[in-house]
Amino acid sequence: MAFAWPSGFHRIPDEDWTHQSVESLALKYDNVNRHGWYKNLDPTVEDLAGYLRDGHLLIDYSGGTGILEERLLKRVGGLDLGIVVVDSSPKFLRLALDKFRDDPRVAFRWIRYLKERKRLEFADEVLGVPLVRRGADALVSTNAIHLYYDLDETLRSWARVLHREARAFVQSGNIRYPNPAPGEWIIDDTVDAIHRAALEIVARDARFARYRSVLADSKRMAAYAAYREKVFIPVRPLHDYLGAFRRAGLRVAKVETRPIEARVKEWFDFLAVYHDAILGWIGGIEKLDGRPAPEEAVKDRLAILRLAMQIVFDGGDAFQCGWTYLTCGRAKS
Ligand SMILES: C[S@@+](CC[C@H](N)C(=O)[O-])C[C@H]1O[C@@H](n2cnc3c(N)ncnc32)[C@H](O)[C@@H]1O
Repeated sequence: MAFAWPSGFHRIPDEDWTHQSVESLALKYDNVNRHGWYKNLDPTVEDLAGYLRDGHLLIDYSGGTGILEERLLKRVGGLDLGIVVVDSSPKFLRLALDKFRDDPRVAFRWIRYLKERKRLEFADEVLGVPLVRRGADALVSTNAIHLYYDLDETLRSWARVLHREARAFVQSGNIRYPNPAPGEWIIDDTVDAIHRAALEIVARDARFARYRSVLADSKRMAAYAAYREKVFIPVRPLHDYLGAFRRAGLRVAKVETRPIEARVKEWFDFLAVYHDAILGWIGGIEKLDGRPAPEEAVKDRLAILRLAMQIVFDGGDAFQCGWTYLTCGRAKS
């Protein structure tokens, strides 16, 4: 039996992004599917597989390129589910559409930025009346909650689309939790550590002497730091999240931190895509300097990124991270 979408709901909306071609940025991100650190999705897949039943509707909020769906649908086999992949990036969503266009269980929704209100659409606005009226049985958000700049409003909008008995499964490697094990990283903290190691390398290695002058220009360095923090947002503590869930009427029933191993080589491949944000001060960046870094500087930047990672990870092949998993229900009113 095929999942019964509410009448008036179209799995694939007739919007421009659905007719565009798949872009390289999305394909580059999707490479993480093959990375060891993306095992972080597996506990969430298990949690969902244990909870979901025939006829359930799942919202994958910030579902990106649909990696979770690939793993979940493989895991739950013929379960008669409906999944709506919701994301603010039409490019990522376009790749998810490529993967599941022909699967009647999967639908797609783009979260638009409402310029006049200076905010993204809320979950209930994105999903639309027929689906909100039906209500979702579960919501999942993986590797994304640390990016929500308006956490309170986002979580409140989740509460409005969930049934009374629904669950939310949320996880991120960028939540600062109490008592981390020795040597355990919050994954995005590595970015600042790499930047600091790169400063040392440039200051002492004659091959990179031409990048030293900018180090004394505190205004420019601050602008590069601000851009870095726009892409790799400063990590918020667990209690900020717990407070926001409580205020949204969502009860956090379980919090767990799990160790996840990341291979340095794979983390390099991931970070290399964002080299301008991490080490923009090496050669400059178009957004701040009005011209892109020369090819030679980009080459040096990647070489310095590699050297800095050797320093930060002590020449090792892998490092341990702590991933936080939250399971939530609706608070009883
Ligand atoms: C690191 S990716 C994770 C994608 C997917 N959940 C996964 O685990 O592979 C983060 C996703 O969050 C989306 N995102 C970023 N900011 C967001 C926001 N403020 N609200 C909703 N989604 C957001 C991005 O477009 C991206 O697809």
